[in-house]
Amino acid sequence: MAVVSLVTHITDQLSRLCRVAGADPAMSADLIGDLLGPAGQRPIHAGPAWPSDVADDHTPVEFSLAFDHHGGATLRVLAEAAVPDPATPADLSPALAFLRRQSSRHRLALSRLDRVGDLFTTHRPQGVFGMWHSLILRAAPEFKVYLNPEIRGADQAGPLVAEALGRLGATPAYRTVRHRALRPGADRLTFFALDLHDAATSRIKLYVSHPHADLADVARAAAVVDGVDPAEVTEFCRLATGSAGPFAGRPVISSYTFVPDAARPVGYSVYVPIRSYVTDDRQARDRTRVLLSRHGVDPDRLDPAIAAVAARPLEAGSGLIAHVSLRVGQPRPGVTVYLSSEAYQVRTPPTRPVPVR
Ligand code: TRP
Repeated sequence: MAVVSLVTHITDQLSRLCRVAGADPAMSADLIGDLLGPAGQRPIHAGPAWPSDVADDHTPVEFSLAFDHHGGATLRVLAEAAVPDPATPADLSPALAFLRRQSSRHRLALSRLDRVGDLFTTHRPQGVFGMWHSLILRAAPEFKVYLNPEIRGADQAGPLVAEALGRLGATPAYRTVRHRALRPGADRLTFFALDLHDAATSRIKLYVSHPHADLADVARAAAVVDGVDPAEVTEFCRLATGSAGPFAGRPVISSYTFVPDAARPVGYSVYVPIRSYVTDDRQARDRTRVLLSRHGVDPDRLDPAIAAVAARPLEAGSGLIAHVSLRVGQPRPGVTVYLSSEAYQVRTPPTRPVPVR
């Protein structure tokens, strides 16, 4: 059997996805190679070097395609830089080293990260990750970082996010979210994200998980953002999960986009972990097609993206389509589909009874 390294496996998938999305395969391979570093050379059959939470099978990479209404799609890769010591997965140093290397090649706007970085840095990091990166594979790549609000412990997440958003001028908008959208004691502050490109569209985002939410909870979470139709958001969740909740599997997640000095968040997205609510990827694919059509995206664009990542029959597993999300409002409304690399494992559906002969 040929020995396949993690970086080879990922780069093969990525180059096929680049073709589907019109992105540059050489640049993409460069970026993911640099991010994975020496950990990328590890053979896949040796299993994951650390239990990354980016994907269920611990592959430290997840692909996504953000479809828009104009026939375009942006390819993105969520990835975690190698964690040298699995005992402290929230150690930020490899992730920061990647940023330093990239900032000498691409213009990264690091001032916001500099203003809040100390809050998310501690000698005794807690939680399942410290920093993740999103590589946005446009002609000139853009970068985003995800920080862990629970890095000082789950009980510190609230004060930490309040302080970070305060430093970035978003206190009034965050107060609106806290008082009007969140369920105290139930919702979890999961990711704090910063765009690192210096443009008018550069954003601050807060991701909130809603364990056991029902559609009324989701509607409340969405309604706080101007221009969002909560019924559109709940219908998206209903069609993606095939149920009206409460969602007892993996939680539905909301993200709020903040810009300085606004009284409210300016953007909203909902993320549905569709893999938790299907029997296999055939069902996930069929539901995703419905969602794409409803939101003005040609559903035939999905299959080539799936084929770029997986050669297996869709019935043979679940989790290839990990999440589907609806982006509402500016800068680019549309539907995003998240695809798992499945480098280490395909989650097989419950086995059907084997016919007796
Ligand atoms: N694997 C984690 C989860 O499913 C984190 C994650 C990866 C995630 N990609 C995501 C969360 C996309 C929301 C949306 O929660």
